[in-house]
This record gives sequence, C-alpha cells and structure tokens, in this order.
Amino acid sequence: MKSHGNADQARERLIVALDVETATDAFALVSTLKGEISWFKIGLQLFTSAGPSIIRKIADSGARIFLDLKLHDIPNTVAKAVGAAGAHKVQMLSIHLSGGRAMIEAAVTAKPENLTLLGVTVLTSCDTETLRETGISATPREQVLRLAELGRQCGIDALVASPQEIEPLRGKFGASMKIIAPGIRPGWSDADDQKRVMTPREAIEKGADYIVIGRPITAHSDPLAAVRKIVADL
Ligand code: C5P
Repeated sequence: MKSHGNADQARERLIVALDVETATDAFALVSTLKGEISWFKIGLQLFTSAGPSIIRKIADSGARIFLDLKLHDIPNTVAKAVGAAGAHKVQMLSIHLSGGRAMIEAAVTAKPENLTLLGVTVLTSCDTETLRETGISATPREQVLRLAELGRQCGIDALVASPQEIEPLRGKFGASMKIIAPGIRPGWSDADDQKRVMTPREAIEKGADYIVIGRPITAHSDPLAAVRKIVADL
C-alpha cells in the first residue's frame, strides 16, 4: 500500500511540458500519458501555434494545466493578460518576477482566487555569464533569492526556480512557498540547453513541490515508458 501511495504522490508532482508543434501532437501526448500523470504545461510554443482552444481541449480530458506564458510587460498589460488567462480552465499561470514590484502586484490583484500565480526567478538556461551580459552582477543564486523575496512581498503564490536553488529558497521561506523546478534531467537523458540541472529524485529530495520535465519525455521514442521510469525513480 505504501509504495502505491508514494507512486500516486510522485505522479501528482510531475508536470510534463507539452513543448510540441501542433495541437494534434500535444493531444496525442496527453492521451498517452494522462493515465499516469495529471499535470501538463502549455508553454509559449504550443500556445502560439495552437491558440487558447488547446487549453479547453486538454482541460476537458480531465488534466490539470499550468499555462507557462511567463508574462513580462507593463503592469496594466500583464494584469489584463492574467485576467484573460484566468478565464480559461488553468490552475497555474507564470509571470516573470524581473518585471518588478508594480507589475507583480498588478498580476496578483488581477488573478482569480483559484488560480495559482507562479513567479519565475532566473531561467534555468541562464548562468552567471548570461546575467552579466544583461547587466546583472549578482550570481544566479543571489538573483533568485532577491526576486523570490520581491515576489513574496507582492503576494505571489509560488516560485519557479532551478533545482539548485531549492535549498536556499526552502531555508529562506520554509514551507510557506511552493516551489516548481524545471531544468530536471533523469540520469539517462541529455542536458540540452539547460545549464543548472538535477535529477527528478534529487529535486524532490531537496524540497521541490513540483518538477517540470519536457524533452526527456516528449522527445523520447516511448514517452509513456519515460514517464513510468521517472515515477518509479521518484
Ligand atoms: O525540455 P525541458 O525539460 O528542458 O523543458 C523545460 C520546460 O520548463 C520548458 O517548457 C521551459 O520553458 C520551462 N522553464 C524552464 N526554466 C524556467 C521556467 C520554465 O526551463 N525557469
């Protein structure tokens, strides 16, 4: 019984990133995987190519949705976009915390109560050099902690951060903040363009509430087998 409960917990914590070209590809993946997991992430690629109707189609299949639009614009525009996204059947929506206090507060005010607003700290594809080139002299860790604190002050519900920053974030916020970690790579897969990666199991052990995995599953010759391997490892 215990291992069955643990497997259910593992399934609840895995969010598969539907970074595919068409609604047909996305729906095929959802149909294949939805018996194993309950969360799917619709990101910029799929939302731009398939449009908002893909949200309803996936939601109607019973899946839960993280709409990863990483909004970053003037406060009024972000607030209006959060309101529009909230009208769809999504449970999570992301904004960039680097948009600043007024933008984050506008997003928090505009969100419906049942929508979890996630603040992206520093992308997992960024390292010290990436930050330096954009005029930020802080290390990724310092910048993640700074943006996370800003998000907390503004009333954000949860944080998106690389697995490497989970420990310092837990140290700072305890259990009060949910943490969603992309940049996850099982031992058997490539890092791709991700620079600050960790295995699924390590990320959960460090304290991630959810892990986001894309290419190791979506580009696998057998996505269902890949998900089962990850769940078993967790
Ligand atoms: O294929 P891969 O597992 O690298 O996909 C990671 C997903 O998580 C992508 O959809 C990416 O947009 C998203 N993401 C990320 N880093 C963040 C926030 C989101 O990689 N900080």
